[in-house]
This record gives sequence, structure tokens and C-alpha cells, in this order.
Amino acid sequence: MGVKRSRISHGKMEMAGDSEAEMESSNSSRNWTSCAVVACLIYLPLLVLLVGAYRKPSLEWLRSVGFTAETGLRSASSSPPLPEPVKDKLLGGLLSPGFDESSCLSRYQSVLYRKASPYIPSPYLVDRLRKYEALHKKCGPNTELYNKSIEQLKSGRSTGPSECNYVVWIPYNGFGNRVLTIVSAFLYALLNDKVLLVHVPEDFADLLCEPFPETSWALPKDFPVEKLENLGVRTPESYGNMLRSGVIKNDMRFAANLTLPAYVYLHLSHDYSSLDKIFFCEDAQQMLRKLPWLLLKSDNYFVPALFLVEEYEEELRRLFPERETVFHHLGRYLLHPTNVVWGYVTRYYQVYLAKAYEMVGIQIRIFQHAPVSFDTMLNQIINCSRKENLLPAVNLEEPGVPPKNAREKAVLVTTLYSGYFDRLRNMYYEHSTATGEVIGVYQPSHEEQQHTDHQNHNIKAWAEINLLSFSDALVTTACSTFGYVAQGLGGLKPWIIPRPAERNQDCLRGSSMEPCFHSPPSYDCKAHKDVDKGAVVRHVRHCEDLDSGLKLFD
Ligand SMILES: *[C@@H]1O[C@H](CO)[C@@H](O)[C@H](O)[C@H]1NC(C)=O
Ligand SMILES: *[C@@H]1O[C@H](CO)[C@@H](O)[C@H](O)[C@H]1NC(C)=O
Ligand SMILES: *[C@@H]1O[C@H](CO)[C@@H](O)[C@H](O)[C@H]1NC(C)=O
Repeated sequence: MGVKRSRISHGKMEMAGDSEAEMESSNSSRNWTSCAVVACLIYLPLLVLLVGAYRKPSLEWLRSVGFTAETGLRSASSSPPLPEPVKDKLLGGLLSPGFDESSCLSRYQSVLYRKASPYIPSPYLVDRLRKYEALHKKCGPNTELYNKSIEQLKSGRSTGPSECNYVVWIPYNGFGNRVLTIVSAFLYALLNDKVLLVHVPEDFADLLCEPFPETSWALPKDFPVEKLENLGVRTPESYGNMLRSGVIKNDMRFAANLTLPAYVYLHLSHDYSSLDKIFFCEDAQQMLRKLPWLLLKSDNYFVPALFLVEEYEEELRRLFPERETVFHHLGRYLLHPTNVVWGYVTRYYQVYLAKAYEMVGIQIRIFQHAPVSFDTMLNQIINCSRKENLLPAVNLEEPGVPPKNAREKAVLVTTLYSGYFDRLRNMYYEHSTATGEVIGVYQPSHEEQQHTDHQNHNIKAWAEINLLSFSDALVTTACSTFGYVAQGLGGLKPWIIPRPAERNQDCLRGSSMEPCFHSPPSYDCKAHKDVDKGAVVRHVRHCEDLDSGLKLFD
């Protein structure tokens, strides 16, 4: 399809995809958290009502947001692009070469689209991944050892760890939340020599390629525990509830005399109980190692809390000498869009984005519980982009015809709403820029509301996350899991737009590219009291976009 690119163009898929449902702890120690949202709601944000109409950016408005050339700010983008380094399709050894390329084109092609990563995986991580792959192949679905473990699971009791021990990941909540938890569950499995299997219901099918060679991570359909979707905080087999009822105990001396259950369900979602949170204690980790089957459901990036478990400290330091690369490396190792999704990504990229010399991604997410007016949000985005020299000012006085060979900078807007795109596009349509470059504004889709459980929606959401991850600079709104995934895959420290009520600032730079753990535990297992977990170890601190959250940084 030969789409003529106009200078200011926009392409919209008829349908849309921006999906995420950020969650927050309902019973966290500080419950004024700004990311809080009621679980599982698929909602139509109030804001939609405000953004439908086309608005012409008035001169007055452009001046008020400091977005005119008169401010005299210069665009940083006028420097020539750096020469492209040689592309390493195995990402420094992160990826195994043992795959058929055509079955999953994105696996080895993503590197051609993303900015070159300055972060090199440690040789130790590479070695552990190859060992993990061997373990997964030995224990994967339908192997003899897997069948043996299933027989044991069916027997209803466990006699201790077996040769193959499993973590079964169960999807929950928005697409962004899901991939954050897959990565968290994988790291947990890696630290414990367990095998990660993923439950793939219909709405999650055909989104991710198999990450491990010559085997599968998909949980077989005949898995004997039924209705995995229904597991929740009240499930009697949950870790917290079994501790309460005395079916399991963390103290090893007592545990030696108890018959262990066939499996434990780990409920690590935003609404988890204080007993569920004991999971993050050292003795719980030791006890859970005895169990061949763990089922895990979460909507949170719980990796930072694993860094607070003392016994993992040394191993994690060896795996990730640069702490802020956990999601960056594991995400690029595990999360490969299928050919269907990759088709959306590459078609859109080639038609709209390929000819730009630089791309700025803007992810806008607004939460029902923390409404922000359209104008406030737009002004913040524009002020931030100007101040940080991400986008050029516009000329208000001269007609400003760009030179014929003007370079294009692309702005990729991903959001559920359409108003932001219109305003940005019109701003650069109606005015020339101070730098002489032309600005193309693009938004692949807007659905006005989230459909977490529609597969087609998830395809587009996943495609847009990948497109965003190709950005040279990324602007995100507070607490967006969608933004977290894009920044992690892209190796980008985002400019975060905080809630205006909370900080008198247009945006602040993320201290790392890591996602934020929105509802971390605060219990200190040794001191037996709540503590400030952001002050315990060197590399874990509170998040820029959520004071009660935790994130890794260097
Ligand atoms: C944007 O910047 C202008 C000028 O610097 C300022 O007057 C305005 O209050 C800012 N808007 C927001 C939403 O921060
Ligand atoms: C494991 O069980 C499945 C049926 O559940 C069977 O198809 C498969 O052949 C078995 N694998 C081995 C190695 O016995
Ligand atoms: C465990 O069982 C053994 C034998 O029945 C008993 O001697 C021992 O005291 C028990 N230990 C605990 C901690 O209950």
C-alpha cells in the first residue's frame, strides 16, 4: 500500500489498542497512593467527554504554554544522527541462536528497530539463561518428568521437591500488568531453579512467541487444577490462607512434620493480604522451595521486593551488576511479539515512522480515581517537551515555509483518547517550527476505553508498546504499566508527567528505566514490624511517580 506521506500526517487504525489497568494496593501502609484504582474495572474515563471536539490551538494558548519560538529555546535535535552501530541480533548473548527465524520474526528483528542498547547482559546472566533453557527442555510440557509431576499433583499431596519444580503464571488484569508479572515470575523461577509455565486463555493467545528453544512454556490444557482464573485472595489454597489455617508453616522444624499440600497458590496481586505478603520473607522462600507446584497470580512488577530478600542478594548482583537492567534484559529475552503483532508493528512503522530521523513517544494514561483536565495534561506534556528540548517551538509570527529537504521528527502518541493527538498535530500543521524541521504526529489507534480481555485489543496494545519502544525519547504519565514496558524494552529513562496536584512540576526524569512495583510489602520479617522498604538496600528506592511504590536503580 503506497501511502503518500504528507508533511503532517496521521494514520489511524479503525480500531484501537492501548491497554493497561494499573493497580494499587488497597491495604498498603500508606493508602493515599496516587496510582490507586479499583481492581478490574473496565471504565470509560470521565475525560473522554472533554476531548472529543476539535480544538484549534490559539496563539494565546501556544504562548501560555511556552511553546513558541519566542522563548528562544533551541531544539537539541539539530545535531546530526550518530552512525548506526553494527546490529547484534542475539543482543549480547541474551537470545539463544537455536530458533527458526520465520516462526517468530520479531525475535531477531527487533534490534533493527530499537535504539542500540548500551547495556550488555552479564556473562553470568547469559550462562544462567542457557542453563534455564536446558532445564525447561528437560521438564517442559509432555516430557516424562512433567507427566510424573502431574501425577504427583493429582495425588493431592507433596513429598518435597522433585527433579522438576514449576511456577504456573496466571494472567490477571491489563496487558501491561501481565507482561510485567511474567518477567517477575520468570526471575523468581530463575532464582529457585523452577520452571515457568504460562496459562494462556483465549484473550492472551497469539501475542507472545515461545521464548525457550525446542520446548514450550504454555501450560497444557489438561492441567488438573481447574478454573485458574477464579483463584483470588479468598482461595483456601493461597499461601496466606494456608498459613492462617496452619496447613503450612514457614518454620522448617515444624514443616518437617507436616504433609505438604500438592500445590500452593501465590496471590501477589494489589489486594493481597498481610499473610500473602509473608511470601517475601526469607523463611517463606525456603519453605516454598520444597513444593513442586506453585501457582502465581499478580498484576504487579514484584521484582524490586526480590532484591530485598537477603539470600538472593549475591545471586542478583551477579546476574544484574547493573540493577536497572532487570526488565530491560529479561523483557527482551522473554517478550517477543508473534508474527501477527509484528505485522502491525512493522507495517505501521514503515508507512508512518521510518523516514523520521528521530522519534519521541508520548504515552498518556489517565486514571479514573485521579482525573486531570484535558488542558492541564496537554499543557504539562507540551511544557515538558519544550523544557526538555524534546520538541521544537513553533513560529507564531512568520508563515515559515520549511526548506524542501527539511528533516522530520516523528511524535508517536499512544493513548485511549483522541484529543491530544489532534491538538499536537494541529499545532505543527498550522505553524512552522523554530528549528526548520517538520514534525509528524501519529497515533495508531484510540479506543476511548479499555478492553483488557479482548484479544484483538491486546494485539494492538502490544503492537503500540513495541512501537513506543523504538522511541529516542519517551514521555509517560504517572503509573502507566504500558509506559513501563515500553521504556524497559527500549532501554529508555522516561520523562514522567506527575499528577499536577502532587508535584508542581511539568515532568521529572525517571531515575531508571525500571518499572515501579505499585504495592510492595512493608513488613520487615526479622524486625517483625513495618519499615520503610525504600530505605533498606542501596538499589531499591521509592518511585518518582508513586511515593509508596518501589523501583530498582543504579
Ligand atoms: C506551562 O508553562 C507556562 C510558561 O512557562 C506556564 O505559565 C504554565 O503554567 C505551564 N503550564 C503547566 C500546566 O504547567
Ligand atoms: C505425557 O503425557 C501425555 C498425555 O497427557 C502424552 O501425550 C505424552 O506422550 C506423555 N509423555 C511421555 C514422555 O510419556
Ligand atoms: C516431629 O515428629 C517427630 C516424630 O513423630 C517428633 O519426635 C518430633 O518432636 C516432631 N517435631 C516437631 C517440631 O513437632
